Formats: sequence, structure tokens, C-alpha cells
Amino acid sequence: MMTKGPFPLKRFEGLRTPFYYYDTRLLQDTLDAIKAELRDRPSWRMHYAVKANHNPVLLRQIAAAGFGADCVSGGEVQAALDAGFRPSDVVFAGVGKADWEILLGLDKGIGRFNVESSAELRIIAQLAAEKGVVAPVSLRVNPDIGAHTLAGITTGLAENKFGIYHGMVDEVAREALSLPSVRLYGLHFHIGSQILEMPDFAALCNRINDLVTRLEKEGIPVGDINVGGGLGIEYNQPNQYPMADFASYFNTYKRGLLGDRPVHFELGRAVVAPCGSLITRVLYVKEGLAKRFAVVDAGMNDLVRPAMYHAFHRIENLSSTGPEQSYDVVGPCCESSDVFAKDIVLDQCHRGDIIAIRSAGAYGESMASQYNCRPLAPAVFP
Ligand code: LLP
Repeated sequence: MMTKGPFPLKRFEGLRTPFYYYDTRLLQDTLDAIKAELRDRPSWRMHYAVKANHNPVLLRQIAAAGFGADCVSGGEVQAALDAGFRPSDVVFAGVGKADWEILLGLDKGIGRFNVESSAELRIIAQLAAEKGVVAPVSLRVNPDIGAHTLAGITTGLAENKFGIYHGMVDEVAREALSLPSVRLYGLHFHIGSQILEMPDFAALCNRINDLVTRLEKEGIPVGDINVGGGLGIEYNQPNQYPMADFASYFNTYKRGLLGDRPVHFELGRAVVAPCGSLITRVLYVKEGLAKRFAVVDAGMNDLVRPAMYHAFHRIENLSSTGPEQSYDVVGPCCESSDVFAKDIVLDQCHRGDIIAIRSAGAYGESMASQYNCRPLAPAVFP
């Protein structure tokens, strides 16, 4: 029999599947662990990346723990404010901020606009001037650093659309300093997501140190640094590793960054992925020519990561102790790519068995759609 995570099966009785189940105690332990790592750096702050999961119950818990929020749309800014994040603790990134989104940020008095181009800088300056306010900005730098992760989710390479190429930041910074309706506070970086190799973050530290030294030599002050997010989790072994390796992650930055300026982090996945599972039932077991399929009632619309990135999520049959067998676990959507896993071993499946698709707390519910007119899966808590 496979090892399985702790799940309150009684709690699941009678509930219609699929649904997301969030272990809010594990989330609290995770928030506490992050705070413990930051205790010796009072000016370092965590802004939770709302894109990973905007479920209001989770957002309220994260806000109550004293974290800030990293947003990439007006909708996320509003969701963060509704959940109780202080406006001054909200930072807003994204290559395509629409005017209404910038105005929302100005009206609410958010803490920072992470600006991704000089074209955007000018629009923010214009909108702020029209309102008679000063917009707090950081420049998002494209550090041209690769990360060992899925090709679809690197962000820090020169070929990616994000940020201002690091060689061109000086010019945009000078422009920001000349605009009376913006105030330049710092620099923002992000190299990618699901990164487990600490040398990738160390390489980012080196790039930041070089850039800050260069800018300050040119008389451009750098107030604070936002290093983005990206810390990965162990999708293969959620039971052995229920928490990301926060100690190695923060130590890399404590060792790697020169100076003692304030540092902001924007972790998403590492905060919420482990605490969420997509709970689904086996509808049918079907024998193919060379395969056995477990057809479940969750689909790619509920959790798109396997179909979109060939991402791996551990799958467990919570209600069977039968002999292990090999299955393709597939959903009901009308797409051949609606597959959660191929040739994986599960305890023998029967109609009605409860299946957990693990580590789905990040980029699961937040990326769900209603494709095939399927209703959005609700969230269930302990
Ligand atoms: N900050 C910025 C500027 C970002 O672009 C991202 C993620 C984060 C922070 C949070 O990164 P995290 O700590 O969660 O790795 N949908 C993909 C992941 C896309 C991440 C996009 N940016 C997935 O399902 O794997």
C-alpha cells in the first residue's frame, strides 16, 4: 500500500467532488516557519504572491500573519485589500497594467508599482500627476538569468517579456528620478518559479550586487530590493517534505546580498502549494489495449498544470488498500491532454474511490476555468 497524506476522510463524506481541500494548519505552520527565518532581518518582508491562490479564506489567513501581497492585476489588488492586506503592503507588478488598474492602485494608496518599461513609467507618472499624487515605484529589472525549471515558467531571461533589460535600467532610473509625480524607491527582480537549485538564487544575488554598485556609482540611489519569488517544492514527496526548504532559501540571500538595505520577497508556490489537494472520485476504471485508465471527476479545467506544463503531481487513492496497479489518471474534459498522470502506481481503483491530487494549493484553483461548462470546484477546509 502506498503512503498517503493525512486526510479527514470523514469530513469528505457526502461532499460532491471535485473540490479543493486546504490544510490550513499546515499553512499556518508554513507562515510561522517563514516568519522565524526572517526574524533576524527586521527590514526584510514577505509579500505573498496572490497569483498562486486568491482563495479569500487563505488570503485572510496570510494577511492576518502580517504578510504583504504581491499582485499582478487590479483584480488581485482588490482581492488582497478585501482580505485585509494593508494598502501600503501591496505591491503591483505586470507588463500590461491597464489605466484603470493603475488608477485603482493610486486611489487605494498601494505601496509600490513594479514598473516594467519606460512606456509604463510615463503613463503612471501622467495618471499620478492628473490626480495630484506621487506614485511609489520600483523598476522591474530583467536580470537575464536562467533558472533550472520548466521552460514555460522562466521569466528572467532577456528573451522573456518581463522587466527592463539590466543594461538599460540606468536610463529608465534617471527618467524616473526626473519625474515629479513618481518616486523611485528600488529595484524588483524575479527569475522564475519552482526553483530548487539554490545557486540560481545566488546568481541573482551576484547580478543584483553588480547592478546596485553600478547605479550607486552613477549617483542613482537604490532604496530597497525585491527579489521576487520562485522557491520550489517537492512535488514527488509531499509526505516526506510538507514544507519548502525555507532555511536554505533565505540563507542564500542572507549570504549573497551585499549591504543591509530592505529586501522584499514574493513567494507564492512555496507558501500555499503543499497545503492544497484536489479531491476527486473515480468514475470509471477502463481497460484499454495496453493501458488501464482511472477516469476521475476532476478535469484539466480544475487543475491545468499537468496538461499545460506536463507538471507532476503525486496522486493517492485515499479509500483503497488494494494491491498496487498501474494507471493513467484522466479527467472528463474533451481534450486528449486532460491527463493528470500516465503510468503511475495507485492502490487498486474502484468506482467511487476518493483520490487526492497533491500539492495543488498553488496555481490550481487560481488557474481553474469553466471549460466544458464545468462548474468551478469549491474549496473545503478542515
Ligand atoms: N513574483 C513575480 C514577479 C512572479 O512573476 C511570480 C510568479 C512570483 C512572484 C511568484 O512565484 P512563485 O514563488 O510562486 O514561484 N503557473 C505556473 C507558475 C507561474 C509563476 C508566474 N510568476 C505554475 O503553475 O507552475
